[in-house]
Amino acid sequence: MDRLKVKFVVNGQPVDLNVKPSETLLETLRDRLELTGAKEGCGLGACGSCTVLLNGLPTRSCIVLTAELDDGDEVRTIEGLADGTKLDPIQESFMENGAIQCGFCTPGMVLTAKSLLDRNPKPSKEEIIRSMSSNLCRCTGYKKILESVEAVSSSKVSKS
Ligand code: FES
Ligand code: FES
Repeated sequence: MDRLKVKFVVNGQPVDLNVKPSETLLETLRDRLELTGAKEGCGLGACGSCTVLLNGLPTRSCIVLTAELDDGDEVRTIEGLADGTKLDPIQESFMENGAIQCGFCTPGMVLTAKSLLDRNPKPSKEEIIRSMSSNLCRCTGYKKILESVEAVSSSKVSKS
């Protein structure tokens, strides 16, 4: 099968790959770049467990073809969220508020929340619910997840 040359940026690092036309971004991240934080749940764009940020916006990597990416597109995965050993405030908040059980949905949840807070640092409860409703969790109720996002937006978690 013909391969396509594609260049983009992942977690600040340029990547230059030859990919199959049918290869999804999720496959590229997990199988070729060893970035396994994004999880395959439904594989159909419905559950959000494969969410990464594409140019800052939550994107379901299971339904994006890697060959669709343009030179200069920036992908951020959960592996690129912490600053060295310092976790992002939303990661700390999930831990402090007990919003993690099996953790399968957590990378996607955290990245969706991160994108919301970057675009709107003080979202209303309704805005948080609307944003987070695109990600499914099979373990918990959503209360602690929503409280984690609210805690950052109301600065109950240190942003320093
Ligand atoms: S695995 Fe991509 S949305 Fe479910
Ligand atoms: S913590 Fe298990 S699916 Fe959400």
